[in-house]
Amino acid sequence: MMSKHGLTAIFVTTLLVVGLLWQTPATVAAERHAPGAHAATAVDIAEGRSVFHTNCAPCHGLGAQGGGRGPDLTLGNWAHGGSDAEIFRTITRGVPGTDMPANDLEDAEVRSIIAFLRSLSPPAHPIIAGDPVRGQQIFAATAGCTNCHMVNGSGGRLGPDLSRVGAARAVTYLVDSIREPDKKLTDGPLDPNNHYGLPLPYDSVIVVTADGERIVGVARNEDTFSIQLLTVDQNLRFFLKKDVQAVIHERKSLMPAYPESVLSAPRLQDLVAYLVTLGREHRAVVKNK
Ligand code: HEC
Ligand code: HEC
Repeated sequence: MMSKHGLTAIFVTTLLVVGLLWQTPATVAAERHAPGAHAATAVDIAEGRSVFHTNCAPCHGLGAQGGGRGPDLTLGNWAHGGSDAEIFRTITRGVPGTDMPANDLEDAEVRSIIAFLRSLSPPAHPIIAGDPVRGQQIFAATAGCTNCHMVNGSGGRLGPDLSRVGAARAVTYLVDSIREPDKKLTDGPLDPNNHYGLPLPYDSVIVVTADGERIVGVARNEDTFSIQLLTVDQNLRFFLKKDVQAVIHERKSLMPAYPESVLSAPRLQDLVAYLVTLGREHRAVVKNK
């Protein structure tokens, strides 16, 4: 009969061998990215994938390659810092002032999500082949985007501020926003009187005044009794609903569509190459803190 120590030894050896075989690829990946960090195992990665699917995929997409509301997390260009500690902080605290929420997850769950994200390699095909410098010119001059959009403090106010759009949105979403603005409307500002309500949608609003005038714009503020309208010529106007004939919300964007005939595929690429840089510059600032 074998001694107790002998059995333990065999047991431990088996564990080690199984563990090594199991861990190898993931461990290598984890060490490459985060020297000294707890080595991620295949189990961590699977756990992370599952937590990610439940909590994060609605915004970041199932494969973390970006969805309607959250950026691609597979590219390795972390706007908020790419160390494990920085990503940990981003996930737990969120990014204030953006859609990225704080998350009340177990530390181990957050670490497993990081292991999952580290295990993803960026998509093989280069998504953004355009020239961002030319893209900026298209944005500011040729296509007239600045008439409606603010970037870093200058531009129009009819559309959402795009200063952080590159950090916040996936490439496919940006393309859709330009080619088919009606497809997915941006969430507008939160109703200041109802923080728990849904954000006001950025749809088109038509106010029909008592004498039949139709005034078009976006709602800046609206409640049961009144509406504050930012008109297409970018004047802020206030109406009491009892004084007007109708307030009509149309489920479409005030942004014109830019089809191929107006904006060719290569010019669209330039434009998107520019847009993805927005909100990512502050990475350097974060690093220097
Ligand atoms: C409601 C949508 C939403 C959900 C849910 C969400 N995110 Fe985000 N996330 C965002 C947005 C938007 C940003 C971009 C913030 C900005 O403007 O910098 C972001 C940014 C991030 C970043 C920073 C990327 C960078 O470049 O530094 C990480 C990491 C991240 N999210 C991970 C997660 C994880 C993990 C979860 C789930 C636990 C999650 N997010 C859930 C919307 C979301
Ligand atoms: C006439 C005003 C107007 C012009 C011109 C305009 N936009 Fe917009 N844009 C809007 C409005 C309003 C919205 C919000 C409704 C929606 O989702 O389409 C919007 C939404 C967007 C969004 C989605 C933002 C987000 O975070 O969801 C992007 C990206 C965008 N525009 C880019 C552009 C680009 C690039 C151009 C120039 C090629 C442009 N816009 C020209 C009014 C405009």
